[in-house]
Amino acid sequence: MRTSTEESLRRLGADRVDLLLIHWPVERVPLRKQLDTLVELQREGKARHVGVSNFLPEQIDHVVEHLPDDAPLFAHQAEYHPFLDQSPLLERARTHDHTFTAYSPLARGRVVGHETLEEIGARHGTSAAQVALRWLLQQETVSAIPKAASAEHRAANAYVFDFELNAEEMEAISSLRGNKRILDPGFAPDWSY
Ligand SMILES: NC(=O)c1ccc[n+]([C@@H]2O[C@H](COP(=O)([O-])OP(=O)(O)OC[C@H]3O[C@@H](n4cnc5c(N)ncnc54)[C@H](OP(=O)(O)O)[C@@H]3O)[C@@H](O)[C@H]2O)c1
Repeated sequence: MRTSTEESLRRLGADRVDLLLIHWPVERVPLRKQLDTLVELQREGKARHVGVSNFLPEQIDHVVEHLPDDAPLFAHQAEYHPFLDQSPLLERARTHDHTFTAYSPLARGRVVGHETLEEIGARHGTSAAQVALRWLLQQETVSAIPKAASAEHRAANAYVFDFELNAEEMEAISSLRGNKRILDPGFAPDWSY
């Protein structure tokens, strides 16, 4: 982790990053050892905040227990969109007071054309993608990192702060949630939580 962090800083031409994450939980190095290195890097000033990604709910508990007060868990990044229920992770984020960052927040484009999202979007004069992002951002502790190669999409994704979903609309989208996970590589942990 130290080598890859220092190499990334060199390639970025930066002394420090705002947020340094452990990308995936791995078993070949004890979690405590990985977290100790993360803390060392933060104390050396190479990262302003530290976090993890793709961790299971119980792993998050271990992370929070192990990290010291001066380097607390700042963010957990995991897949989250209207078609994937992440309640156990959101509950952890609220209990432990860290940010929950939704990756693949547009379900890799699959939100486009979805009937419920399109219908709510039409009511607000926005798109299904903007509705999906707004639904995420209106939830406590949730942030979202949509990817958009096109300038048009990037601009659209910034316009999600000038409308608000009401409680009924939030619930209609929440009730879509199922288990449609998109990212599931062979090295992923057992997601059955
Ligand atoms: N921590 C992890 O393990 C992990 C795993 C996966 C992803 N991520 C991060 O999550 C970020 C986003 O996830 P993602 O790329 O998997 O999926 P995503 O953001 O859900 O979807 C990206 C797709 O949605 C399209 N799109 C973007 N804005 C749109 C809009 N307003 N209207 C219609 N379509 C729109 C994009 O098209 P165009 O590109 O053509 O504009 C692209 O095809 C990435 O930057 C990645 O770094 C992290």
